[in-house]
Amino acid sequence: MEKQTYSRRFFLTTSSLLATFAFIPESVKAFYSNVKKLVIRPKEELRFLVTINKKKYRINADSRTTLLDLVREQLQLTGTKKGCDHGQCGACTVHVDGQRVLSCLTLAAMVQDKNVTTIEGLADGDKLHPMQQAFIECDGFQCGYCTPGQIMSAVACVNEGHTGSVEEIKEFMSGNLCRCGAYNGIVESIQKVAR
Ligand code: FES
Ligand code: FES
Repeated sequence: MEKQTYSRRFFLTTSSLLATFAFIPESVKAFYSNVKKLVIRPKEELRFLVTINKKKYRINADSRTTLLDLVREQLQLTGTKKGCDHGQCGACTVHVDGQRVLSCLTLAAMVQDKNVTTIEGLADGDKLHPMQQAFIECDGFQCGYCTPGQIMSAVACVNEGHTGSVEEIKEFMSGNLCRCGAYNGIVESIQKVAR
């Protein structure tokens, strides 16, 4: 009996939506189809130069390629991680001209002629960056999946001087999620390097 009521309601809602759509004027449909054409760009092959970890690359890429896919899929720099791919976890954080950016929300074409640093570019040969060393010493990670993004943000946190208090560090680092909950070690690592 209940199932029947639900089906009737579903039928009525669906048919009224279809009826509404049938009466949308042609001019409105044409407007939305133009917007779609402008917003969803067709595939376009781009060529540009970019410096990643102090090495110049000549890139051929679809205009829709993200910086994250460029470094991971084309250049095999897989240290940068793909977590959500929607700008919500911070796992994909890299530096562009010294500023941290979310590479999943940055188009590769936007870094043309810029300097990109990924986690692979932080160490000096065999010598770890002080932040990498601090993460090891302060237990700043467990599974390690979020760690490259955490370290890139942590370096920016120190460079930009947001280490005045634990609250300030937490605020700056709030875009980097850690499912293992290594937050205390991460804050400790940042304080250590800041000192
Ligand atoms: S993968 Fe970029 S923010 Fe999550
Ligand atoms: S160390 Fe596992 S998600 Fe952060």
